Amino acid sequence: MGTTNADIHVDEISEDLSFVAASAVMRKIRAQAELLAKVDGPILILGESGSGKEVAARLIHKISARSGYRFLKVNCAELASDLPENELFGCEGGASIGGTEMNTGRFGLCDKGTVLLDEVTEMPARHQAKLLYLLQDKQFRGENRVDVDVRILAATSVNIEKALAEKRLREDLYYHLSTFTVRLPPLRERRDELQVLLGYFMNRTAERYGLAPRSFSDALLAACQHYSWPGNLRELENFVKRYLVMGDEPVALSELRPQVGFRLAEEVRQGRPLEPASRKDRDNSEDANGLKSLVRSIKGEAEKNAISNTLAKTGWNRKEAARLLSISYRGLLYKIEQYQLTPPSSYFSPLTKNRAWRNGQGH
Ligand SMILES: Nc1ncnc2c1ncn2[C@@H]1O[C@H](COP(=O)(O)OP(=O)(O)O)[C@@H](O)[C@H]1O
Ligand SMILES: [Mg+2]
Repeated sequence: MGTTNADIHVDEISEDLSFVAASAVMRKIRAQAELLAKVDGPILILGESGSGKEVAARLIHKISARSGYRFLKVNCAELASDLPENELFGCEGGASIGGTEMNTGRFGLCDKGTVLLDEVTEMPARHQAKLLYLLQDKQFRGENRVDVDVRILAATSVNIEKALAEKRLREDLYYHLSTFTVRLPPLRERRDELQVLLGYFMNRTAERYGLAPRSFSDALLAACQHYSWPGNLRELENFVKRYLVMGDEPVALSELRPQVGFRLAEEVRQGRPLEPASRKDRDNSEDANGLKSLVRSIKGEAEKNAISNTLAKTGWNRKEAARLLSISYRGLLYKIEQYQLTPPSSYFSPLTKNRAWRNGQGH
């Protein structure tokens, strides 16, 4: 089902989603996916946000024997810690509601299919315990004792060793999930496929919007090559969309200008030393972009204040704060990390410590 054009491999997953592999590392991952599709066990997919974990999971499902059945993504960060386990996994044996009613949970909707547990380290502890039990038991049983058979894939964008050390993810569950691990490199580590991806997203979006594809000048391509793409392919795709619609090269170029603070925060977050390109960018921006970086730092300060005030107002209930700020929950988590905001210690009672805060429950 894949289209191979010299070194470019494209698998169509659905009408508007394909898996593109145009670098050696991505072609290797494509080959791995093919093998793993045949092995019907759990897989842990690691990679930064936007690096393509969900696309890889959908590809594995698509080329597996389960492709005729459903693919279900469960966002573990959105699972309330008080969600009854049954609603997710169904429940085993015992009295069923109303005698005949089936309760196979969300997993039951996906019988014979694949479930992707996205941001698995955010799964509430009680669900982790139940999932471990079910994985050990191999099968998921519904209340009517009909077995529910799903393949579990799990994904995370956080540092897994850190999540284990902080006991956010159970170690025994991790060993079950990580028999096979796929690690998607960030886009800045596969710049050799950047140009192919730009062309791919441009053609696909142009077709979808009924517009003529726009070409990239050498200057714009060079700027893309130098940029660090902290949001990875998701950011790249949105950049192409904006450039196609707005057609404004100076604006596109200015979007790719290194945002010094942002990039530094990103590199520090990844625990990586600065790449030569960013060091060069930083030097350039110091003399040429004095006013711009001043404006940026003022904007950053204002954003940081708005976020920290809203968190204080909601008692660090981050879901509520994200709603008030009209940004996504994930976006808010990212900003909290970027600005290194921490809740006052009074928000932690000894019992609720980690969990309540991480689930956005606050107080
Ligand atoms: N290998 C790929 N080929 C084509 N598009 C991709 C690929 N990886 C990611 N994308 C694009 O980037 C977007 C974000 O990818 P996604 O898998 O949701 O990232 P993650 O789950 O790692 O945050 C996708 O919707 C898709 O459009
Ligand atoms: Mg994702």
